[in-house]
Amino acid sequence: MHPKKLRELYFKFFQSKGHQLIESASLIPQNDASVLFNTAGMQPLVPFFLGQTHPSGKRIVNVQKCLRTVDFENIGDNSHHTFFQMLGNWSLGDYFKEEAIDMSFEFLTKILKLPLDMLAFTCYKGSKGVSKDTEAAKKWKSLGIPDERIVFLTKDNFWSAGETGPCGPSSEMFYWTGKKPAPKKFDPNDDTWVEIWNDVFMCLEKNKDGSISELKQKNVDTGMGLERTVAVLQGKESAYETELFQPVVKKIEQLSKKSYRDHQKEMRIIADHIRAAVFVLGDENAITPSNVDRGYILRRLIRRAVRYGKMLDIQKPFLSDLARLVVKDYGDYYKEIEKNKLFIFQELDQEEQKFALTLEKGLREFQKIAVNSDVISGKDAFLLFQSYGFPLEMTQELAAEQNISVDEAIFKEEFEKHQSTSRTAAAGKFKGGLADDSPETTQLHTATHLLLEVLRRVVDSNIKQRGSNITPERLRFDFSFDRKLTDEEKKKVEDEMNRIIDAGMEVRREEMSKEEAVTLGAQMEFGAKYPERVSVYFIGDFSKEFCGGPHVKNTSELGKFKIKKEQSSSAGVRRIKAVLLKE
Ligand code: SER
Repeated sequence: MHPKKLRELYFKFFQSKGHQLIESASLIPQNDASVLFNTAGMQPLVPFFLGQTHPSGKRIVNVQKCLRTVDFENIGDNSHHTFFQMLGNWSLGDYFKEEAIDMSFEFLTKILKLPLDMLAFTCYKGSKGVSKDTEAAKKWKSLGIPDERIVFLTKDNFWSAGETGPCGPSSEMFYWTGKKPAPKKFDPNDDTWVEIWNDVFMCLEKNKDGSISELKQKNVDTGMGLERTVAVLQGKESAYETELFQPVVKKIEQLSKKSYRDHQKEMRIIADHIRAAVFVLGDENAITPSNVDRGYILRRLIRRAVRYGKMLDIQKPFLSDLARLVVKDYGDYYKEIEKNKLFIFQELDQEEQKFALTLEKGLREFQKIAVNSDVISGKDAFLLFQSYGFPLEMTQELAAEQNISVDEAIFKEEFEKHQSTSRTAAAGKFKGGLADDSPETTQLHTATHLLLEVLRRVVDSNIKQRGSNITPERLRFDFSFDRKLTDEEKKKVEDEMNRIIDAGMEVRREEMSKEEAVTLGAQMEFGAKYPERVSVYFIGDFSKEFCGGPHVKNTSELGKFKIKKEQSSSAGVRRIKAVLLKE
């Protein structure tokens, strides 16, 4: 079955069961600073498991873009991908276990027409005060699943997205991929049984103190890995042999004049990494390669692909050629990558060129260091990083190929120091979402500080900044809030902004320790990491914010503030676009 067909059938089936189709959220979490990328379909929906009303109702279906880096070293095997797509049907306080299982069963057996004989299931065994899920097992049995195809497990059958938050017991569905008929008894440790779908009965919440309590509402979170499912439905060893990756794999064969059969691992890694890089670069919240956080993950993906390309003797820059094929295949559904394709190609070209300049020399340096030693010191690994742009993982991979190790702890110490300097530099360079440092942008930047404080005073004191982007024409400001502003509130915000502008408040900057700034109650951006010494901007005694500038000297320089648009940005986040009119 073609991946597009599977997606279509999934959507259609759940729509016929009263689900509303929604688009994939951004790869970058908008209301969770604990993860760099969305790693599961449920992440963007967390506020709705907790009781917030979803604009599309209580039954939802979608495919979510996900990215997992914990599986980095597994990439190249049959079933792990850095970027992948997760199909999901969601009950936000609507149906629960029985109905969810009924629907999963119907989809697997009636729509995908999988023979019962090739299916097996796991249910939660119970632990730490949460009881064994006999209900789920009973339900599967009522649908004709024999006892020996149902296994109770602990670890794998309890899903939670993080240290705290919604969680619950789950039931996983497995498909037999062997050539011989499936054994009567299901052995979850036999990986001929491939997990294709997970139904999580999300009715619990992990609290900060480690205790587990009941959620206000009972939810269902399901996840079907599109890549894996397509592969097993086609009887292929992995998704790389399907339409999901074949055009890229074929192009790599052509560019390297080598065959996939002989160079499976290298080609799989390149194909996986280029696809992930395209989606990260093409995301509506675009990330570019850098040495920190998400940008560093992107850099690692691109550079690893370049190194593998070199191992295959690909002579010329090749990443954007491959990226074109990804955009061609995926851009009809994921419109953002089609829209941002020129940016994607340009960034890939730049990063590839940059790395090509140092890769060769770096490899020679690595050889010098590695010769006659059985461990690469943290300092040497850091030198390879700093002077030749080798991410730690690349040095580790090179070392492992020669059976030596890397002193990771010392590397990390050096790296941490370096990251905080880079973050400060990046904060200075991009100045918190500023397009440039023209007088107009600077004015709008100061207006953004005022806007946050005005929203907190006029609308809700819990409002926090979630993002901002400023061009010479307008400001765009994202903040945490879960409903539309009323016309009256918008008017009040504008009036208060203009009152402060007219009051001619002085803008001043002070440097202080992070602790001092926090004690003063200075606003920080959600999810941002700050160095020990920070710069804080004060506007009169009205607003205080962590910020690297630039700003105007006095609010009287700003002109008249006007809101152009107020809209939803993502779950629990609103967006205001506003301008300053010249008077
Ligand atoms: N959250 C679960 C998973 O990722 C089901 O969607 O497997």
